[in-house]
Amino acid sequence: MKNIVVVGSQWGDEGKGKIVDWLSDQADVVVRFQGGHNAGHTLVIDGKTYKLKLLPSGIVRPNKVSIIGNGVVVDPWALLDEIKQIGKQGVRVDESNLILSEAATLIMPFHKEMDEIREDAAGKGKIGTTRRGIGPAYEDKAGRRSIRVMDLRSETNLDSRLENVLQHHNAIRKGLGKKIYKKTELKKQLLEIAPKILRFARPVWKKISEYKDKKAKILFEGAQGILLDVDHGTYPYVTSSNTVAGAAAIGSGCGPDTINYVLGITKAYTTRVGEGPFPTELTDKIGKMLGTRGKEFGTVTSRERRCGWFDGVLVRQTIKMSGINGIALTKLDVLDELDEIKVCIGYELEGENIDYLPAAVEDQLKVKPIYKNYEGWKSSTKGIRNFDSLPDKAKVYVTELEDFIGAKICSISTSPERDDTILIENPFDNAEKRSGHWNI
Ligand code: GDP
Ligand code: IMO
Ligand code: MG
Repeated sequence: MKNIVVVGSQWGDEGKGKIVDWLSDQADVVVRFQGGHNAGHTLVIDGKTYKLKLLPSGIVRPNKVSIIGNGVVVDPWALLDEIKQIGKQGVRVDESNLILSEAATLIMPFHKEMDEIREDAAGKGKIGTTRRGIGPAYEDKAGRRSIRVMDLRSETNLDSRLENVLQHHNAIRKGLGKKIYKKTELKKQLLEIAPKILRFARPVWKKISEYKDKKAKILFEGAQGILLDVDHGTYPYVTSSNTVAGAAAIGSGCGPDTINYVLGITKAYTTRVGEGPFPTELTDKIGKMLGTRGKEFGTVTSRERRCGWFDGVLVRQTIKMSGINGIALTKLDVLDELDEIKVCIGYELEGENIDYLPAAVEDQLKVKPIYKNYEGWKSSTKGIRNFDSLPDKAKVYVTELEDFIGAKICSISTSPERDDTILIENPFDNAEKRSGHWNI
């Protein structure tokens, strides 16, 4: 077996979409397993840009199967819209290349509204969510009152599911003085789109098991980043799903032995969108410059991303938390013009040096980064496709990052374009080498 899970090792937007698209050339199946249309993955292929939210990044390649697993929260209207939009760019999506788990939770209009109501009411204390209803939808899933894809098959089931979920939401809405949702209206809207959604609905666990039997290569595509994981991230400034690699098995219905290799996607600096701690954040002109050169604007919400130096402590930590075996380093070219580049190698917390991010958000906000300085290479790395062609100072930066974080850098991305990537070690070969390690 040669199956890979790709996860973001920072706060999301590391360039997962580009790397998944690039790797999917070698894969047969690409699977999304968590998150929803809070994700925004940008692919640039021969100068043409594709923006994906719910659809797996393998969708743009012909003859690959894309799967949306049970762990994803699916806004059915957003999914249909995305299929329509990408269709206009010439990408065909039909039953032959898209499978949607019948067990996936649906995001309903009241989830999105609840997300907005809470964010607006929180004022300065807001999370800075994407306002897509992700958190409220996962809450209903854990609360055992979700409407799932399979419920669209039966009007009777829809009736009872809607009754159940609206009892909960309408009670809260009444308390907040908001409009009450009528079951009949929602049911009508759902029945309207049901056939368009159900054409993709299958038991994903079974499909994946069949692909495993056929020895197909499966690429699991994580959304967000490990620092946004609901357990391991900078809680409460996180998303509402598990973003670590282990979630791939849960969110698609296959065992952990399906995963042979975990590839962490890591930006050569750090960004974050939304509120929450960010020890190496730069609010000066260097931060602005990183944002401009790196085009750091949210794909989903167009918000400006906060930018800062590479935080080696955080990435070393997320590598351990998610069992990352190798790294795809991205956006090295964004650092090209800097005179000096800093890397965080430790923190100071109330006079003491520590080598990890403390668990409490109050402490996370207090830590002061300890930096190591590197001389900038001050020449263009844009589009470089082999390691030897990198400037010597860039080689030093990359090699020292690798030593510090403790995971092999398998590839280095030097522009948004699909093929502008330096391959050092093929992650699929590594997956094959590691296959069977569960039995050792
Ligand atoms: P994702 O959410 O992890 O898939 O990342 P996004 O697509 O939201 O954000 C990454 C952005 O960086 C996108 O606009 C990509 O086109 C772009 N990108 C990816 N790799 C590189 C790279 O190596 N260099 C540059 N300059 N841009 C890149
Ligand atoms: P990709 O897959 C960056 C952030 C939001 C907010 C927090 C909670 O493109 O890397 P949510 O809407 O999920 O409840 O918001 O998580 N967030 C992301 N940040 N990239 C993403 O996805 C994100 N998805 C959610 O900004 O801080
Ligand atoms: Mg993104």
